[in-house]
Amino acid sequence: MERTLIILKPDAIQRGIAGEIITRIERKGLKIVAMKMETVSQEKAKYHYDEHREKPFFQELIGFITRSPVILMVVEGIDAIKTARKMSGATQIADAIPGTIRGDYAMHTSVNLIHTSDGPAGAEREINNFFKKEEIVEYKLDSQKWLYPSSVLDK
Ligand code: CMP
Repeated sequence: MERTLIILKPDAIQRGIAGEIITRIERKGLKIVAMKMETVSQEKAKYHYDEHREKPFFQELIGFITRSPVILMVVEGIDAIKTARKMSGATQIADAIPGTIRGDYAMHTSVNLIHTSDGPAGAEREINNFFKKEEIVEYKLDSQKWLYPSSVLDK
């Protein structure tokens, strides 16, 4: 099982689409193991987007993610990182195909509803930026026995 960070960005909440996105995540079968709402600080935002520090859109990116509250989630599943990225859709909004969250609901690359980690190292770093260990909840999700074969769950 793999974990990834999902951020429902300020536009998802302000436009009333957060519930729709959470529903998609639940229906897919990703297990939500942590979730909270917060207004992201400048410090956490800059750490989160450190790889984009030199990009021309960096200030806009930080301004946007700190502008209004976000919903932060950690989700778990087999190939959770790739799955969450596929569900989100391409970063460049013109490439985000219908059926993806960005493809269905977003109009601009800078105002794109959702962030998901891009790989295992990034996921660990990003989860640790926003969540303490004790905020991640250990529990059994009964529906998993209808989502995975027993050969996977019995491991
Ligand atoms: P996100 O998945 O949160 O990760 C980095 C963010 O940078 C991305 O979503 C976009 O919001 C933003 N971004 C990436 N490329 C561009 C770009 N060319 N112009 C503006 N914003 C961008």
